[in-house]
Order: sequence, then C-alpha cells, then structure tokens
Amino acid sequence: MKIEFDHPTRGKHYRQANVECPSARHREIEFMVNLLHPQPGETIVDFGCGNGVLTVPISRSVGTSGKVYAIDNSRQSMLNLTSRMGHGNIAGVVIVEAELPLQSRSVDAVVTLANFHHVPDKFAMFKEFERVLKPGGRLVIGDVAEGTPVQRYFDGPVDRFCSTGHNHQFLNPNLAWRLCEDSGLGFRSWDLQEVPWEFRDEAEARRFLHLIHDATCTPEECISEAKQYLGFELTGRFLLNWQLFFMIARKPIQAELAKHAVGAGQTSLVAD
Ligand SMILES: C[S@@+](CC[C@H](N)C(=O)[O-])C[C@H]1O[C@@H](n2cnc3c(N)ncnc32)[C@H](O)[C@@H]1O
Repeated sequence: MKIEFDHPTRGKHYRQANVECPSARHREIEFMVNLLHPQPGETIVDFGCGNGVLTVPISRSVGTSGKVYAIDNSRQSMLNLTSRMGHGNIAGVVIVEAELPLQSRSVDAVVTLANFHHVPDKFAMFKEFERVLKPGGRLVIGDVAEGTPVQRYFDGPVDRFCSTGHNHQFLNPNLAWRLCEDSGLGFRSWDLQEVPWEFRDEAEARRFLHLIHDATCTPEECISEAKQYLGFELTGRFLLNWQLFFMIARKPIQAELAKHAVGAGQTSLVAD
C-alpha cells in the first residue's frame, strides 16, 4: 500500500514546517489539549501523530505515571519523534492496517488532529477506537470540516500543488454521528472553531505553507492561493484564517448501556 507521508519529501517537509514555525498552529493545539483535558496517569493514543505537535504537550500532562501511544502509518512522519521526548512516557507505533496493536479497553482517550480525513475506512477506524477505549473513555477529533473554506482550499489549490495531491473525505456532523452510532460510541459534541495560523509576517507564512503542503509551485503562489481561499488579518502578526471542527465522543459505561437498553424496551412497549 502507498503511504502518503512516506513520499520522499512529503513527511519530511511537513515535519520541517512544524519545527521551523512552532507557534503557527498553537491555537488548534491548545484547543485540542483543553478539550482532551489529559490527567496525570492517563493512557492516551495520539492517532496520526505525525511529528508529535500534540503528543508532546499531552505527554507532559499525563506525566511519568501516564503513557502516550504515538501512532502513525508513516515511519517518515514520526522520524525522531520518540528521541525528542523528555519524559520517557511515549511509545511510537507504526501501523500498517486499520488495526491498533493495543488491548481492548486499555486507553483513557484517543485523540487525533488534522488526520482523520486521511483515513480510508472511517467506520472500521471508529470501531477500533471504540474497542481500545475503556468504558467512559473519550474520543477527541480536530480536523477540517466538509463545506468550509479550508476544505475548498484543500480540494482546490492544495490538491493541485501538493506533491502527493490531497483528495480526501472530510467529516460533517451527520457522518460523525453515523460513525458513532455504528461503532457504539456516544456522540457528545461538534463545534466549528476559528483557530487562525499565526506568523511573524507574510514571509514566514509563505515558507510555512510551501513546506507543510510540500508544494510543487512557488511559495508566492502558495500564499496567494491561501489568501484568496481563506482570507487573512494583519494585526502586527500575519494571521491566516483557519477553521476546524472539534468533536467529542465517549464510550458508554456499563450502567449507561443498561439504562439505554431499559429505555429502549420501554419505548417499544409504548409504541406497541
Ligand atoms: C496532516 S498530518 C497530521 C499530523 C499531526 N497530527 C499534526 O497535527 O501535525 C496527518 C498524519 O496522519 C498520518 N496518517 C495518514 N493516514 C493514516 C492512517 N490511515 N493511519 C494512521 N496514520 C495516518 C500521516 O502519516 C500524517 O503523519
């Protein structure tokens, strides 16, 4: 199977963008961490972790008594990830199938940022998330939503100039709800959130975009398309408009399942 981020430059340049401009995506990362609210001692999966922009802050929060499984299907994306970790509580795992090499009911939370649109079989993946979560465990996803300017930007210019193309299926609330229903997770919330990418100036934004999309066009063309599709603000810094959805789902605990079963029975009695 062809792994998109194992392309000779795609994973490498994605990583370089995040390393050279560590504060560009700070809003979306902080938003995810706040939503996840990781606690000391928890075991958390960062699915599609890339070079660990989210793994690292989570590993700090769970501390030495906790553990983070940093999981990705691209070895290239994860290069140097575990060696950069100070806490010794991160295990890097490269997967080849839509199966997580983790025991059932073993993790407190699964989190995935800017990844889920890449996953080909979303229904199978949700079932895996449900399987590995402990009862009461949470799934937190941050990604590009269908029907937003960021989706049109990816499906338009990014698909044209990204070295690997960028043609993927993005989530909408209806699909998210169906994925939860199918896997047995409880759908809790879906929010569209403004999380602009922040740069010192336009020159930094130009370089970042060129790297993060592994663009085959010039940096000037990258920024010009981004400004046109997404819009921007100049407030001393250069802010590129960026919007993601953030959703939470939760694996029911046994008591909730039992209550649901009783409730379902009652409904059917009334209907009869
Ligand atoms: C856009 S990057 C996001 C990386 C990181 N979460 C971040 O926010 O910077 C998408 C990541 O998902 C990984 N990926 C793509 N498809 C995947 C799949 N089916 N299973 C696991 N990882 C996948 C890619 O290798 C890449 O590292």
